[in-house]
Amino acid sequence: MQSVLSERDRTKVDSGADGSFYDTPRFVTHADDGFLHRLTDTYGSVLADGDRVFDAMSSWVSHLPDQEYERVVGHGLNEAELAANETLDEWFVQDFNGDQRLALDDGEFDAVLCALSVQYLQYPAAVFAEFERVLAPDGVLVVSFSSRMFPTKAVRAWRLAGMDERIELVTTYCEAGGLSVQEVLRDRPERDPFVAVLAG
Ligand SMILES: C[S@@+](CC[C@H](N)C(=O)[O-])C[C@H]1O[C@@H](n2cnc3c(N)ncnc32)[C@H](O)[C@@H]1O
Repeated sequence: MQSVLSERDRTKVDSGADGSFYDTPRFVTHADDGFLHRLTDTYGSVLADGDRVFDAMSSWVSHLPDQEYERVVGHGLNEAELAANETLDEWFVQDFNGDQRLALDDGEFDAVLCALSVQYLQYPAAVFAEFERVLAPDGVLVVSFSSRMFPTKAVRAWRLAGMDERIELVTTYCEAGGLSVQEVLRDRPERDPFVAVLAG
């Protein structure tokens, strides 16, 4: 597996266990309403009724438009947040910086979503390879982010990068995982800048 971050790139200011940092639930949103509406619209443009969706690095909200999904599986680090997420049919807790392998079948999702969280991945190539594995052949990965983050928990490469370089990083993650970027959406440069990278 190609390593896209050097040992130094993947360091965090807070090197403590991620599970401890996310131990207490945060029933907040991590971007403003304009960003979140834009994200829901983006999901609406790629998702259809009957889709099977994996919301990776999720919380108490998944930002999905109101559609009839066959199955929505969530993953994150805080049980209470995931249990409160009414969109999810099922969910599990797993620290991606400890174990990147997903206990999910090959090709079982039409969409994999990763909202406002990619900056926390220390082993993105291995995680994105798993996203690719669980996606159906014509499935889509949507990775969204803004300029906000928990800075002590974001990897050094992300913390020091500008928005253009962050898009390049995510593009590298996709390619390392065997996915090709199809589209990059950018909006709202002044407030909570919206970026979504669509890959398949
Ligand atoms: C800023 S929140 C975004 C949550 C959600 N996607 C949203 O849009 O509200 C970052 C999320 O990343 C997840 N996360 C952070 N570090 C992680 C890790 N090492 N392994 C798995 N998930 C992690 C946590 O579950 C946390 O909820």
